[in-house]
Amino acid sequence: MKIGVPKEIAPGETRVALVPASIAALAKKKHEVVIESGAGLASSFTDEQYEKAGAVVVKTAEEVYASADIILKVAPPTKHPSGKLEAEMLKEGQVYVGYIAPFQNPETLKTMAARKVTVFAMEFIPRITRAQSMDSLSSQATLAGYKAVIIAADMLPKIFPLMMTAAGSIPPATVLILGAGVAGLQAIATAKRLGARVEAFDPRPVVKEQCESLGATFIPMETAADAQTAGGYAKDLGEDFLRREREAIAGRLPKADVVVTTALIFGGVPPTLITDDMIKLMQPGSVIVDLAAEQGGNTEGVKANETVEKHGVKIVGTINLPALLPINASNMYAKNLVNLFNNLYQKPELDFEEEVTKGACIARGGEIVNEMIKKRIAG
Ligand code: NAI
Repeated sequence: MKIGVPKEIAPGETRVALVPASIAALAKKKHEVVIESGAGLASSFTDEQYEKAGAVVVKTAEEVYASADIILKVAPPTKHPSGKLEAEMLKEGQVYVGYIAPFQNPETLKTMAARKVTVFAMEFIPRITRAQSMDSLSSQATLAGYKAVIIAADMLPKIFPLMMTAAGSIPPATVLILGAGVAGLQAIATAKRLGARVEAFDPRPVVKEQCESLGATFIPMETAADAQTAGGYAKDLGEDFLRREREAIAGRLPKADVVVTTALIFGGVPPTLITDDMIKLMQPGSVIVDLAAEQGGNTEGVKANETVEKHGVKIVGTINLPALLPINASNMYAKNLVNLFNNLYQKPELDFEEEVTKGACIARGGEIVNEMIKKRIAG
């Protein structure tokens, strides 16, 4: 098959869909890769490295879209500097694999569907054991959890570890992690490594042991026995649960130097865990990093892609933390893509009965085929 990799054009996107090592793996299976010149540069991969790995480097995105059977991307399709929409550069019958963010970009997905493109969304890869090696939400969230803590450590006017010096003892910083999924668990591990005292909370009871095994104290609060969907995601637990949760969090905020929030309801609006009144409970100089900022955030007043200050507390809303670690992020994303590609093409034809193919495919044959998306963006 002919695989096309255009250069990413979304503002701040430094990742690239395939790295030279992944091209070598595809070439072994006799697939051809066409890549736009400069596509890997922001991730520190040169055209020469791609050529050496067996890719054909072409000058323009148009050449990539015109010649490939399947397009591999990172960020959702957007407007090309040439003025064209990336979604409109796709051809009928082409396969597209990448993030789509369908709820934020419904028109883009509708355009792709109308052009009879077969669309696989990385966000919709089922969270099942067999698909873990293809799950880029997890690989990228791991990096985001790490980077969130590094950013907080850099911004905090204090050190993280306990230090006993001749000039006195410095107690360790306290870091509170809300939501202990993939990003949250990595944030706990990173904060622990830097020497902080770490507390965590997540409504899914199964997570308590994972937090404790990483050295965090789990905030004592009733978790919810039915907090998890069959797909492994948290359910919306309702306003009464959230009110009790906010009370428990409020009790910890006066001592929290850093809060990292990662609470997510898949396909839903992130719950507000920290209200403006609760921010007032924190010490001036403290830092909140809200990973859910793009979808509206877990913190009242957070702004996507900005750092704002409220009541002396800095609230960081960076939306693409993996793009700040492009070498790792691209390597992991490319591994996920190659594993997904190999799963999709176990046979020459796509098999829409196969669980991962079926779950990740959100449009084909001129229609949006994912029921959740259809309901949300109908019209
Ligand atoms: P995940 O699904 O693995 O974890 C989310 C966690 O939130 C789950 O453990 C869930 O139980 C928990 N949660 C749900 N409701 C909660 C509540 N009321 N209180 C506390 N916890 C609650 O998701 P993942 O992959 O860890 O991503 C977390 C967030 O980070 C998402 O919003 C995601 O979009 C975002 N993200 C942001 C990035 C950035 O650069 N800003 C990059 C990657 C992910």
